[in-house]
Amino acid sequence: MNTILNEYKVPTRKKLDYKLNIPHIIKYMGSKRELVRDIVYTINEIYEGEAICDLFAGTSILSGALGQNVSMYSNDIQEYSAILAKTYLGNYNWKKFEGLIEDLITVAQQHVDRVHQHYPNLQFPYEFEQSLNEFNTIEQQQQKLIYLDFKDVGHHLFIKNYSGTYWSFEQCLWIDALRVAAEEYSKTPVYYPILSSLMFAMAYNAQSTGHYAQYRDANNTDSMNDIIIYRKKEILPYFKSKLTELIESLGKNDFKHIVTSLDYRECLDNLPTGVLVYADPPYAFVHYSRFYHALETLVKYDYPEVLFKGRYRSDRHQSPFCKRTEVRNAFREMFIRVKHKSAKIILSYSDTGMISVEDILNIAQNSLGNKYDVFTKYTDYTHSTMGRVKDKSRKVKEYLIVGKPI
Ligand SMILES: C[S@@+](CC[C@H](N)C(=O)[O-])C[C@H]1O[C@@H](n2cnc3c(N)ncnc32)[C@H](O)[C@@H]1O
Repeated sequence: MNTILNEYKVPTRKKLDYKLNIPHIIKYMGSKRELVRDIVYTINEIYEGEAICDLFAGTSILSGALGQNVSMYSNDIQEYSAILAKTYLGNYNWKKFEGLIEDLITVAQQHVDRVHQHYPNLQFPYEFEQSLNEFNTIEQQQQKLIYLDFKDVGHHLFIKNYSGTYWSFEQCLWIDALRVAAEEYSKTPVYYPILSSLMFAMAYNAQSTGHYAQYRDANNTDSMNDIIIYRKKEILPYFKSKLTELIESLGKNDFKHIVTSLDYRECLDNLPTGVLVYADPPYAFVHYSRFYHALETLVKYDYPEVLFKGRYRSDRHQSPFCKRTEVRNAFREMFIRVKHKSAKIILSYSDTGMISVEDILNIAQNSLGNKYDVFTKYTDYTHSTMGRVKDKSRKVKEYLIVGKPI
């Protein structure tokens, strides 16, 4: 007599394809651009065809790498991250937008001309032959524009709040102008690449070191000359070249993607069950909202109250992952929700983080329980510290902690 045995069903192993030549948009502390290959390799070790959630997306580089091949849930509390995710995940038919760059420049140029006509005295030329005193006087005159109300011109947020700080008056004027031009496309998918290209131009014109926590002062001729190099840059060529690159490299995308700007707990609460979560929370005590407030303001364009020398938004988000008294509970709350959603998790953390990797492993094991397999892997990695002078980068071990239902 033949006995038919139930066939043991081996889970279908699928491999996710990914892209490595992802257009670069912003300089970002803790960006995983250089680690994408390792992260996708680890994802593929446990992948079984589910959607992927990038819970703390930042530059949204993971959506850039995977978004052509799988449905993504991309989330970050900062709204600029959603713009970057929507840029990488958009479904584009560029033929509908022929002449886009020229049209944007026409609208922006009109805004620039209008402001120059209204305020003919606002001219701040930079020359290398300037004395330190002359230079600092020009900087201070621009910084004082924050006290003007600019009521005669709409869209004056950057010239008012940031002239003579991270950017010159003229650079701020072009940021406002291109932001006005972008608004004409706000109901279309190309809105996101337009704003991303502006973020790129802002980053490469800013005299600060890749973030907006503090702008540099000219204390001597050397620092003045270095700042002048940035003051003489123009927003428009950077904007044009990045948008051209994005138009050439982004195309059709038929996957369904969901992009949110939520606290990680709310994002996890909203996820369906069985998603694979990639979590890359902050690991240091510095808040992203302080370093990248100007990007948030560009996106919101909401004329916020700005505070301190760095001109930060007063409504900045404070992350529990950056506070020693809250970080343990922050991880606990994450793992508990992952378990509740029967999700898989791959967590990135560094050996210079707020708590040790052993601590995280303990919290993971306690919160996920014995129905989860938890293990860890690491890579040696050089972290950018975003400084321009000394201590530009630091060697760290970057851990990947994996938790998957057994
Ligand atoms: C290490 S970065 C992520 C970098 C990202 N993986 C990349 O490659 O660009 C951490 C991110 O967590 C975000 N974040 C901090 N607290 C958050 C919270 N409570 N909920 C959601 N996102 C948060 C920050 O805005 C920041 O973008």
